[in-house]
Amino acid sequence: MAVLPQRYTVTAALPYANGPVHIGHLAGVYLPADIYVRYLRAAGRDVKFICGSDEHGVPITIRAQKEGITPQQVVDKYHTLIRDSFRDFNVSFDVYSRTSSATHAAVSSDFFLKLYRDGKFIEQTTQQYFDEQAQQFLADRYIVGTCPNCGNENAYGDQCERCGTSLSPTELINPRSMLSGAQPVLRDTKHWFLPLNEYEPWLREWIIEGHKNDWKTNVYGQCKSWIDQGLHPRAVTRDLNWGVPVPLPGAEGKVLYVWFDAPIGYISATKEAFPDEWETYWKDAGSKLVHFIGKDNIVFHCIIFPAMLKAHGGYILPDNVPANEFLNLEGDKISTSRNWAVWLHEYLQDFPGQADVLRYVLCANAPETKDNDFTWKDFQARNNNELVATLGNFVNRAVVLTHKFFEGQVPAAGEFLEIDQDALRQLAAFPAKIGELIENYRFRDALAEVMNLARLGNKYLADTQPWHLIKTDVARTGTVLHVALQIAAALVPVLGPFLPESAEKLGAMLGLEAGPWATAGRPNALVAGHQLREPALLFAKIEDATVEAQVQKLLDTKQANLLANSLVAEAKPEVSFDDFQKMDLRVGTVVAAEKVAKTKKLLKLIVDVGLEQRTIVSGIAEHFTPEELIGQQVQVLLNLLPRELKGIQSQGMLLMAENADGSLALMQPGKPVRNGSGIN
Ligand code: MF3
Ligand code: ZN
Repeated sequence: MAVLPQRYTVTAALPYANGPVHIGHLAGVYLPADIYVRYLRAAGRDVKFICGSDEHGVPITIRAQKEGITPQQVVDKYHTLIRDSFRDFNVSFDVYSRTSSATHAAVSSDFFLKLYRDGKFIEQTTQQYFDEQAQQFLADRYIVGTCPNCGNENAYGDQCERCGTSLSPTELINPRSMLSGAQPVLRDTKHWFLPLNEYEPWLREWIIEGHKNDWKTNVYGQCKSWIDQGLHPRAVTRDLNWGVPVPLPGAEGKVLYVWFDAPIGYISATKEAFPDEWETYWKDAGSKLVHFIGKDNIVFHCIIFPAMLKAHGGYILPDNVPANEFLNLEGDKISTSRNWAVWLHEYLQDFPGQADVLRYVLCANAPETKDNDFTWKDFQARNNNELVATLGNFVNRAVVLTHKFFEGQVPAAGEFLEIDQDALRQLAAFPAKIGELIENYRFRDALAEVMNLARLGNKYLADTQPWHLIKTDVARTGTVLHVALQIAAALVPVLGPFLPESAEKLGAMLGLEAGPWATAGRPNALVAGHQLREPALLFAKIEDATVEAQVQKLLDTKQANLLANSLVAEAKPEVSFDDFQKMDLRVGTVVAAEKVAKTKKLLKLIVDVGLEQRTIVSGIAEHFTPEELIGQQVQVLLNLLPRELKGIQSQGMLLMAENADGSLALMQPGKPVRNGSGIN
């Protein structure tokens, strides 16, 4: 195993405080980062694990406008929610700060000023849309207009969401301001740019040459393609009234671009929490900086932020930037705006005390090398088959049998047979193997090895059968349980980074502290005579109904989205009351129904409309079975001109409501009424 550096600065991307966090966040960034950090701490390394809320940027001001509250209220609300979700999932940050803090304002403006004074920026005046009514410049997202590509009248200044074309605001036809509705005008505005092109040779050497072999292929590939396409100066300031003000005279109404200030947030959070030691973690070459991020953050962390750090000088550069791909949910892209997500705070309401189950499933199925899918079926199967039937079952048997046969005291071992020695040998190899996988950011494989350790335990018990052995050989049974308990004990430290609550529970059951990683897997973690505590179940089976309810919740979301997004037909021209009165609308009861032969869509209905029974042919056979309709009261337009359909005279029309998804609903009276009752 390679020798590890002694000191680590580990960051996890600062989530935008404009919505709660979901399983995609946890699986992609925060869980792998937490596993890594917990492991490093157990391995005796000096680690600071840094995160906080990203509270600036246009998305937050837009959210505020939509909700009719201030940006500060938006970030206060979500910062708290996000922070609590991470705490509840045992993500063990050393600091969880926020970019609206005073420290951050100071650190990020100082950073900007240093670059400014050292001549690292270029100043450029460009033309940008300005809203004269609202008296402010408009961010791309604040301008809507007609897409030059597809004619969508509500395309944004940076993208048309209908055809997907990326746009610049000046390409929009008939641009309007989202603030006032006014037509914006172009005005000169001055901004500061970081000339990334000047850093290209250095980036080539540092990344393309230097990190060919140790950065993940998805990360390396994205960086290479960016650099190969040529780098350009990038604006680091914006015309906006939400953010860190540009600390220069004459820069009123301008703030630092959110992607300039946010990564500096890692530094300010460290400084805020560790005012005396923070520099060691950011300036000492002996510290290893690792950024955990999602794949949409790669260029910012691999190219732009390093270029900023390089321009500043005196800071260490990231040693690695392990970015994951995306997690989908039941086959669809997770989306905050479509509410297509499993929100962490809602999960814990529905599965109290079961943070570890989700941590397990998300790590076992993490999108490490490609996008992956979360399904509730898989969640249930992994819980029931792996956590309950493999891990929980092994530990439970070892502890329960020890209580049953040896009063809960670790029995003394007699002579070890080959099978025992083999188990102990295998056991001893696990911690190093797991540790090495974690160091190489292969968390799925590492977790699979943890489960293999539990499988080793199960196989050992199945091979030795202590529950039978006890009838003939108490001493040998003692040896077997002694060995089985060493396996259980070895699970405590290696489980710790992945499932901290379960590791703690198991440790408590065994009367054992996790201890340093270096001592994990030793053959005498539990000595003869050591008293175990009462057995407790680590995991519980999840029933079908429980996951079905979750699936239903998602189906409801889908339905709600469909309805919300469907276009409601435009209003029709007005009609007079007399015109309305001409229609003979009545309630009737379907007394007979059958499919019209050789058609897919038609049903022939006999409807009792009070005066008589009418034959009505209706194109609803794909929506209703004849049985469903018989006996139902419906609304009928009686005086529609009769017409012939497939040789049958239709003497009226059934009224239906059509849903956005094309499904139909009968129009029924709210309570039974006499057939023939008029509707007006
Ligand atoms: N808020 C960004 C996102 O959620 C991540 C910012 S990471 C930082 O995509 F480095 F800028 F802080
Ligand atoms: Zn378009």
